[in-house]
Amino acid sequence: MQDDQSSTAVSPLALGGAITGIFVLIFSVIYLFFRSPSSSSSSSSKTDEDTTENRIKPETSGKKSTVPKTIKKDTKEVTKFTHPWLCTSLRAHSSSVTGLDFSHNDKYLASVAEDDSVLLWQTKDFNEKDHKHTRVNIEFGQANHVAFSPDGKAFLINLIKDNVIRVYKFEKRSDGLPTNVKSVLDFPKKNESNIISIGIACTGKFIMSAEVNNKIIIFDIKGEVLNTIETHQGHLNYAAVSPCGRFFGSSGFTSDVRFFEVCFEKSNGNFKEIRRAFDIKGHDAQVLCFSLNKDSTRAATISKDNTWKLWNTDVDYIHKQDPKCLYTGTLSYNIERAGLIVLAPDALSVVISIDNRLMFYNLSKDEKKCEQEIENVHSDSIRVLVMDSTGKYVASSGDRQIRVFHNIAGLKGLIDDLTEKAHTAKQLTLKERMEEQIHEARSKIEKILNGAD
Ligand SMILES: *[C@@H]1O[C@H](CO)[C@@H](O)[C@H](O)[C@H]1NC(C)=O
Ligand SMILES: *[C@@H]1O[C@H](CO)[C@@H](O)[C@H](O)[C@H]1NC(C)=O
Repeated sequence: MQDDQSSTAVSPLALGGAITGIFVLIFSVIYLFFRSPSSSSSSSSKTDEDTTENRIKPETSGKKSTVPKTIKKDTKEVTKFTHPWLCTSLRAHSSSVTGLDFSHNDKYLASVAEDDSVLLWQTKDFNEKDHKHTRVNIEFGQANHVAFSPDGKAFLINLIKDNVIRVYKFEKRSDGLPTNVKSVLDFPKKNESNIISIGIACTGKFIMSAEVNNKIIIFDIKGEVLNTIETHQGHLNYAAVSPCGRFFGSSGFTSDVRFFEVCFEKSNGNFKEIRRAFDIKGHDAQVLCFSLNKDSTRAATISKDNTWKLWNTDVDYIHKQDPKCLYTGTLSYNIERAGLIVLAPDALSVVISIDNRLMFYNLSKDEKKCEQEIENVHSDSIRVLVMDSTGKYVASSGDRQIRVFHNIAGLKGLIDDLTEKAHTAKQLTLKERMEEQIHEARSKIEKILNGAD
């Protein structure tokens, strides 16, 4: 474990009393000198529309590694990204954002970037001009994944250099912004290859760390290894813990997705075993990414065979029943660099990213047309795509900015689903309640598209 004071430097970057003010001033000066000027604009009142030119120049001179990318970006410098579905753009990182996670209660969004920092944002600010955040500098290290603990009082990152997981804890200020962020624990070093994914079960019972070399380590919450498994998939592209907290899955060089169940004793809750659960089989090439809905009854996959698929994973896997493919969609773009997919918790919408574009689908009908395609969301390929636990927001990144979109496809899917259910509802009160919800969803869409919020 590291010395707390030296391992973290947290600046409470929103103005609050005089002491905080001075603190901010000192930190701003430090950032101005040692980092690009953009990182000092933490709780800036700049609107979404501030131009990107100012932010690119200092980086070109300051950071060697981003020079090639910056040259490529030149033509885009002057164009501002706007879209009716865009909720906001979060800007404060000085280099590419690699990891995002919404807290389980949806109060926070955490972002980690190549600038060696984690920023904690409040989702309640998304509709405001001001985006307050707390900055946590990762001393002596870089991380590319972040995951909140289920209680929303801690988060994990992976340290790239050592391939270990580090745990941070934080407290809440009166305005809700995290404060006193401290690194409290580094997990034992088990590295063999790069960590490609980390996750925590919503039950708080286990933590997953997946390495590119097929190794998945399951830890308890204190960092003790419960078990390690080899997935035998050539190499891993992606791994994730299911939102229900029972399973984890992985996809790699082979064309399947393998799911495992982490089992605990019924009597005392002690760890029992990791058992092979079900496999998703049906793609003709590597699965680049997959996503399960809230109760793990549906899965969505995207593959190098240029299709995406929706699966029924509500199967009796103990009796060897396999997930069934419910739908195959052909992608109209070749996946050249990156393809990601995220299924909404209610499985009524799905969002796909291919290179730097996003595609939103509502899944309510048999035919699944792309509802909205958004080009040039980022200046580089999208590396991270997440949805909050209500399916309201979709956040992506592929450069220094984080784009947060309203998931209107999700609202449309919900409208269709409720309409169908209201038709068959026998109880009048139930029917009325559904009609009310349909009305609410419709007015939400209208409000978003009219820019009322
Ligand atoms: C773990 O990483 C260190 C460097 O960080 C390296 O020296 C060591 O060989 C790695 N261990 C394994 C088992 O690959
Ligand atoms: C959802 O998508 C389907 C298929 O593309 C479409 O027929 C339907 O009208 C959409 N629903 C809404 C509410 O727009």
